[in-house]
Amino acid sequence: MRIVAEHLSYVYNARSPFATKALDDVSLTIEEGEFFGIIGHTGSGKSTFVQHLNGLLRLPSSLKRRKKKDGVVLTVGEFDLTSKKTDFRALRRHVGMVFQYPENQLFAETVFEDVAFGYKNFADKKPERDEVERAVREAITAVGLDYGAVKDMSPFDLSGGQKRRVAIAGVIVTSPEILVLDEPAAGLDPLGKREVMALLHKLKESKCKTVIVVSHDMDEIAENCTNVAVFSDGKVKDVLPPAELFKRTEELFSLGLDVPLTAKLTLALKQRGVEIDCDYTMEDFVAKVLAKRGNVC
Ligand SMILES: Nc1ncnc2c1ncn2[C@@H]1O[C@H](COP(=O)(O)OP(=O)(O)OP(=O)(O)O)[C@@H](O)[C@H]1O
Ligand SMILES: [Mg+2]
Repeated sequence: MRIVAEHLSYVYNARSPFATKALDDVSLTIEEGEFFGIIGHTGSGKSTFVQHLNGLLRLPSSLKRRKKKDGVVLTVGEFDLTSKKTDFRALRRHVGMVFQYPENQLFAETVFEDVAFGYKNFADKKPERDEVERAVREAITAVGLDYGAVKDMSPFDLSGGQKRRVAIAGVIVTSPEILVLDEPAAGLDPLGKREVMALLHKLKESKCKTVIVVSHDMDEIAENCTNVAVFSDGKVKDVLPPAELFKRTEELFSLGLDVPLTAKLTLALKQRGVEIDCDYTMEDFVAKVLAKRGNVC
């Protein structure tokens, strides 16, 4: 499923003294199969944008009426999110949304019940017990947990990383084609971060066709993403693959953003007269540096 947004704007508390324009004429296409990154300073509209993708935030109805004139488009595959007739429950089965610190939303007495809730919540009719059990077992196994060992445990007795996996299981349990995650690795230790990113790649191969991550971690973006959208003040500044984006170090600094360590090292080497042309993954950076050294020797 392809995601297309054109001329998308969003104002919180419109028509009140507290109105905040969170999205300002955003146009963005995300192709099926991407591992898509969204970056931007605090308050730049990243979360507001992704919450549109499963209809959690909707276009105001006045805008829907005007959409033809304004050319506003928001489609996810066949779903037209500007239409009142859209089946938003069906959409949510296709677009799974993992919020920031999703473990804070675990609530059930057992891991099984928590993950099962995600399944029952989006089912059209009450599913059979066998069907729920199959889906929950598959989801818990897919996030790398031992179903037999954790299913009857309280989610609150798990480690931070395990809780986050359970929360992700509760979203992928409906087998969404698109998985959207707001800061999936935030607050985890370095190993936990690497494990979560590896898990997302595994899920992309086995279950979800497209993964979209919002992140402040530029190393994470450089290592994992196919394309990156840069948000600033509710607008999309650029959409580029990391290999192109992180060449623009100065521009990113001016937007209040960081760059990956590989980009900082590339810049430091350049200032010393050594040009490295890498894709900003650590592996490629090291390979290119070693190749340069070989040439010098
Ligand atoms: N529920 C809300 N009510 C009113 N204003 C909001 C609400 N949520 C966000 N905003 C405002 O909308 C703008 C965009 O916020 P958003 O949360 O989308 O940014 P963000 O890029 O996700 O930021 P962060 O990196 O801090 O998560 C900000 O000015 C924010 O203060
Ligand atoms: Mg946010």
